[in-house]
This record gives sequence, structure tokens and C-alpha cells, in this order.
Amino acid sequence: MKIDVEYLEFMWPMRHFLITCGAIGERPDIVAVSFCMPVSKEPPMLACAIATGAHSCALIETHGEFVVNVPPEELKKQVYYCGSHTGAQVDKFEGSGLTPVPARSVAAPVVDECVAHMECLVRQAVPTGDKKLFIAEVIEAYAEEYLARGDRKIAFALGDFPRHIYGARFGKK
Ligand SMILES: Cc1cc2nc3c(=O)[nH]c(=O)nc-3n(C[C@H](O)[C@H](O)[C@H](O)COP(=O)(O)O)c2cc1C
Repeated sequence: MKIDVEYLEFMWPMRHFLITCGAIGERPDIVAVSFCMPVSKEPPMLACAIATGAHSCALIETHGEFVVNVPPEELKKQVYYCGSHTGAQVDKFEGSGLTPVPARSVAAPVVDECVAHMECLVRQAVPTGDKKLFIAEVIEAYAEEYLARGDRKIAFALGDFPRHIYGARFGKK
């Protein structure tokens, strides 16, 4: 027997990223994002969906750019912190202890402790429901050299589906 479920639960596990947005000197934000995927290799494009009420969503709309930072597993706690506080109320660089460093081509900082970075320019912003989908061109992509040599322990998913974040729905609607 099969029952109705929350579809998101069956798209798990997902990768987690730290997206930085805003600008250095203007209290940039860091948001934890799992809804992020490549959508074109040539030109290099990715898409990420961010809640319309999130502070980061407003900053990305204003600046038209952001950075996708790839956190190593050791940053699990900081990922949770950035995914459970809003930049509207706190400075998440200060609160998480993560270090902002200038990006190559965008005003948003990169997270120094992350191992790879994709600097992005928004090409389309599409409302999808409770999220806005930012489709963006990757204008810079760089990573720690050792990753290119095969030591690629960078992916992590935070264990089971995080019901406390996305909720759960069982049975008929
Ligand atoms: C592991 C993890 C993944 C998340 N993925 C997303 C996501 O893909 N999209 C989204 O809108 N929020 C996601 N969130 C929730 C946001 O990170 C959270 O709402 C955050 O507080 C928003 O911060 P802001 O108001 O500074 O933008 C995630 C949270 C965690 C912990």
C-alpha cells in the first residue's frame, strides 16, 4: 500500500550550500540552501530557490548576484546556524564565526572556510510559490587545489530529512 507523503522527503538526501549575498561593508548575509542545482553546462548556469520572505531573497533581488559556497562537513553547525537565523535580525558572519573575504567579481563576500565557490549573476528570477527561483550564470568557479587531486570529501547531507525545517505531511490532504 502506498500513502500520500510530503514530496520533499523523497527528494532527500540533498547537498547543502551556503549562499552569500549583499555586499561587503553593508552587512552581507549567509543563507543555508539545499534547493540548488546546475541547469546548464555551457553557458554555466545554476538555479536556486529561496523563500520569498527570506532576507537573502531580498538582497539577491536588489544586487542581482550571489555566491554559492560549498561547505566541508566540519561546517555542519555553521550551516544549521545560517539556516535557522535571519540576516534581517543578526549578522550571520559575526554569529557563526565564518570569515568574509572579497569575491573575485561580485560585491558579495565568499565564505573563507568553504572549499569551493561559484560567483553568480542572476539572469532570471521566477516566482514558484513560497520560493523565488534564481537562475544565474556562474561567472567564476574556484576551489581548493587538493580537491582537484581526488580528495573530494566535500559532499554532505544533514542525515535524515529535516522535518523541523520542511515539515512532514502524511495521509490524504
Ligand atoms: C540545511 C538547510 C537547508 C536549507 N535550504 C533552504 C533552501 O533551499 N531554500 C530556502 O529558502 N531556505 C532553506 N533553508 C532555510 C533558510 O536557510 C532559513 O530560512 C534562513 O534562516 C533564511 O535566512 P535569511 O532570512 O537571512 O535569508 C535551509 C536551512 C537549512 C538548515
